[in-house]
Amino acid sequence: MCGIIGYIGDRNAVPILIEGLKRLEYRGYDSAGIGLIRRKRLDVHKKEGKIASLESALPEKLSGKPGIAHTRWATHGGVNDTNAHPQVSSDGKVAVVHNGIIDNYCKLKKKLLKEGFGFQSETDTEVISNLVASNYNGDPEEAVQKSISQLEGTYGLVFLFTDHPDLLVGARNGSPLIVGVGDKEMLLASDVNAIVAHTRQIFHIEDRETVFLDKRSYKTINTKNSVVAKEIEQVDLELAEIEKGDFPHFMLKEIFEQPDAVVRSFGGGGRLLPDFGTAKLGGLNIEKQEFFDINRIVTIGMGTAYYAAMIGAHLLENMARLPATAEQAAELRYRNVIVHKDALFFAVSQSGETLDTLAAMREIQNRGGRVLGICNAAGSTIARESDGGVFIHAGPEISVASTKAFTSQITVFLLLALMIGRMKNIPVSLGKNYIDELWAIPDKIHRILDRCEEIRQLADKYRSSNHFLFMARGINYPVALEGALKLKEISYIHAEGFSAGDFKHGPIALVSEETPALFIAVKGETFEKVLGNMEEIKARKGRIITIANVDDERLRELSDDLFLVPETDELLSPLLTVIPLQLFAYYTAVALKKDVDQPRNLAKTVTVE
Ligand code: F6R
Repeated sequence: MCGIIGYIGDRNAVPILIEGLKRLEYRGYDSAGIGLIRRKRLDVHKKEGKIASLESALPEKLSGKPGIAHTRWATHGGVNDTNAHPQVSSDGKVAVVHNGIIDNYCKLKKKLLKEGFGFQSETDTEVISNLVASNYNGDPEEAVQKSISQLEGTYGLVFLFTDHPDLLVGARNGSPLIVGVGDKEMLLASDVNAIVAHTRQIFHIEDRETVFLDKRSYKTINTKNSVVAKEIEQVDLELAEIEKGDFPHFMLKEIFEQPDAVVRSFGGGGRLLPDFGTAKLGGLNIEKQEFFDINRIVTIGMGTAYYAAMIGAHLLENMARLPATAEQAAELRYRNVIVHKDALFFAVSQSGETLDTLAAMREIQNRGGRVLGICNAAGSTIARESDGGVFIHAGPEISVASTKAFTSQITVFLLLALMIGRMKNIPVSLGKNYIDELWAIPDKIHRILDRCEEIRQLADKYRSSNHFLFMARGINYPVALEGALKLKEISYIHAEGFSAGDFKHGPIALVSEETPALFIAVKGETFEKVLGNMEEIKARKGRIITIANVDDERLRELSDDLFLVPETDELLSPLLTVIPLQLFAYYTAVALKKDVDQPRNLAKTVTVE
């Protein structure tokens, strides 16, 4: 989704802004722009397409300071140079970059048109620059504060004022904004990745706060104009973590990072108590005894995080013996949801900024519910606003298609289910078994990754199929949904995930020789049932690719292609079965020459509804 960076200091802002934009590329965008103050005038350059197009359109040796820059993911108005940001007020005094959506922009636009302000773009953002200009009488603070009190919607904003070349202003409501404090320079960004090359000292702007920066100092105020004290945090992030290194794509790098990410998610053992066969999790903000009063669990998330939430609910029901269901946050939010006082909610989000999940979390909290976060990004809004939670520690995930966050989210749910389950019905010996199985997972993932060439060949064989069916049952049903999502996201091949049990109730009409069916078949409760479902496909001449953890004769007969993953307990099997599916999607997209890390139309962090 859109990305923001602003710079104020003594250096030329241009290379800092361009490099910052490149570090925001992963979020997904369709145009980019940069605005500078040069010789007391605003100088704005904008270009549809990639940052490289913007870069090549910039005049040689362009320099200026301060400056703001933006990657736009279109919401209001088509993808073109004019609609890209910055948007400048028609009197040329105010430039703004904006993440989010202004709901009342039509009403404001009418009023501003009457006042004589002109509009060139179709964006809601141009309303903001004109509104601030209309409220401006020489005092930027007064103008911004008055304007944001008139805005309805979500925004992360950074402003330049032509009359004030020593000032950068930021404001936030719903879209993240971070200040980076450097040595006689300041940066403002929507994402820490954009500024980490320059400073690791940061602080967060909260909703309804405005920040005023010059190169040496900052002042944050709230809507009542009271100054808000800020504590500077040290960001713990190495540049190598947000660079591709020797991998051709971030997605492949992140798939290969999963053995380490899973280990980090169980704290390198630090979150495990092997002697007691249980787990310990700091940060939950719940006394252990309180778990006895919890009688139901609801896990929420979107996309891949929702599929992890489904697996989490399955684990919690099975191991912790608690009624647990998963819900799509976007749907829960607009239902008249019942929040029982004995319920516990989990909001699952890699970025911790997904608006649907954040809004659902706030809705639950407003109704008196308790929500724990399962997040990757420390300092993210969900992590900060939840009532406690667990970080998955997967490390930065740059590729738009989520991979390592998924396996880490499942690992954390396993720890939670083990911890609560051990308080209830899981005996110590079984708890120890789960821990042993979990310790063995990273090596088993390695063993699958070592065979990535087999998956590459499989992807090559099936790459011309236009439709795919992904099927599984039980705890692997969400993995089938995830496998289909990965494939459609990055290769644009139509793929759907189904419960293999539900398939014959309608979707079986889709079976044909041209539509391969990918099955996940693992040893356990539903193995025989899955074999039965495969028979149903074979009887209709469907082609079958199987990911299994058991070498069974009937399975071999039914499968056109079979990939065996190492065996593990059925409850842990999603940690292994998903790996070949991620690789399958990756190699298919590569074979089809798609933009793996930045698939069309998609954004890494979805901060709009
Ligand atoms: C899929 C994907 C998305 C995200 C979803 C939630 O590859 O990346 O489906 O999982 O947008 O994002 P987070 O986890 O940041 O809340």
